[in-house]
Amino acid sequence: MPATNRVFSGIKPSGDLHLGNYLGAIRRFVPLQDQMPCIYCVVDMHAITVWQDPADLKRWTYEIAAAYIAAGVDPEKSIIFNQSQVAEHAELAWIFNCVARMGWMARMTQFKDKAGKNSENVSLGLFAYPSLMAADILLYKATHVPVGDDQKQHLELTRDIAQKFNNDYATSIAANGFEDDFFPLTEPVIAGPATRVMSLRDGTKKMSKSETASDMATIYLMDDADTIARKIKKAKTDPEPLPETAEGLEGRPEAANLVGIYAALIDKSTAEVIAEFGGQGFGAFKPALAELAVSVLGPQADEMRRLVADPGEIEAIMRNGAERAREIAARTMQEVRSIVGFIG
Ligand code: TYM
Repeated sequence: MPATNRVFSGIKPSGDLHLGNYLGAIRRFVPLQDQMPCIYCVVDMHAITVWQDPADLKRWTYEIAAAYIAAGVDPEKSIIFNQSQVAEHAELAWIFNCVARMGWMARMTQFKDKAGKNSENVSLGLFAYPSLMAADILLYKATHVPVGDDQKQHLELTRDIAQKFNNDYATSIAANGFEDDFFPLTEPVIAGPATRVMSLRDGTKKMSKSETASDMATIYLMDDADTIARKIKKAKTDPEPLPETAEGLEGRPEAANLVGIYAALIDKSTAEVIAEFGGQGFGAFKPALAELAVSVLGPQADEMRRLVADPGEIEAIMRNGAERAREIAARTMQEVRSIVGFIG
C-alpha cells in the first residue's frame, strides 16, 4: 500500500484563467489541504505541447500561481511550483512513454479534438501529453487528483499506466523490496455542481481558455466587477422560469449551467439552489448570480493583481515549492531507476 494519501493537481499556463478552472479545480484545491498533503503545480511543460509565446507563458505561469494563493492555497502547507523546475517529471514521462501504448494515446478525445484533421502536423509532445500527466501524478505517488470532468479520460490512462508498470516490473518491484502496488491507482476527484462549466453563449460548449469566438462566453478570473456582471446579464438563457425541481433542468443546458455556477460559488447543491430560486425568472436570478460571482471573485482578482505586480513573492514561493517537490521526486526516481534496471 502507498504509505500516505496525497493530492496532486495542475493547470496549464496556456491562456487566461476562467471560471471553469476556478470552480472545476482551484476552488476545490483549498479544503483538501485539511485532509492530506497537497501539491499544486503550474504545468508549464504541458503548455508548450502547442506553441506558446515565451512572454505569455511566463505571464500565465505567474497568474496561475497567484490564483492558487488568492483562492486560499497555503504555500507553507501545500507545495506550489512550476513543473519545469523538477526535471524528474520529464524523466519519468520518458519511462512511461515506453510503458504506454500508441493505441492508448490515439484514443484520447482531447488529442483528437486538438489535432483535428491535422494530426500529422501537431507536435509529438501533444500526442504523448497524457504520459507526462501520468508522470506528474505518479512521481509523487499521488492518490487523489481534483480536476474538472474533461480530465477524466487522462486519469483513467494514468491508472492504466500505473497498472502496466506494476505488472511489467512485478518481479523487479518485489526484488527491490517494494509492495506490488508500487504506483497507486489514483482516484480522480471530480465532484460538485460545476465539474463542467459551460460557455455563457452556448450551454453545450465547454468554457475554455482557448475560446475566441466570443469574449462574452467566458468569465475570466481577472475580469473586473462590471465585466462579470455584464457577461452574466447577457448570458444566453431560455424563456422559461427556473424549474421547481433540479430534474427540471434536464434539457435546459444554459439554465443548468447558471444554476450549477451559483451552487458551486456558494457551496450548495443544485437542489438547494433550485429550492430557493425555483419558479423565478432569469430577471431575478441573474442579478443574484452576478452579485454572488462578484463577491467571490472580486477580492481574489484584487489579490491576484497584487501578487503578479510584484512577482518576487510568487517566485520565492515557487522556488521553495520546487525544492520540496524535488525531494519527493528524487526519491521516487531513484526507486524507479533501480526497478527498471538502470545502474546508478
Ligand atoms: P487545464 O489547464 O486545461 O485545466 C485546469 C483545470 O481546470 C479544469 N477545467 C474545467 N473545469 C470545469 N469546467 C470547465 N469548463 C473547465 N475547463 C477546465 C480542468 O479539468 C483542470 O482540472 N491536463 C490538465 C493539466 C494537468 C494535470 C496534471 C491535472 C497536467 N498534469 C496532473 C491534474 C494532474 C489540463 O490541461 O488542465
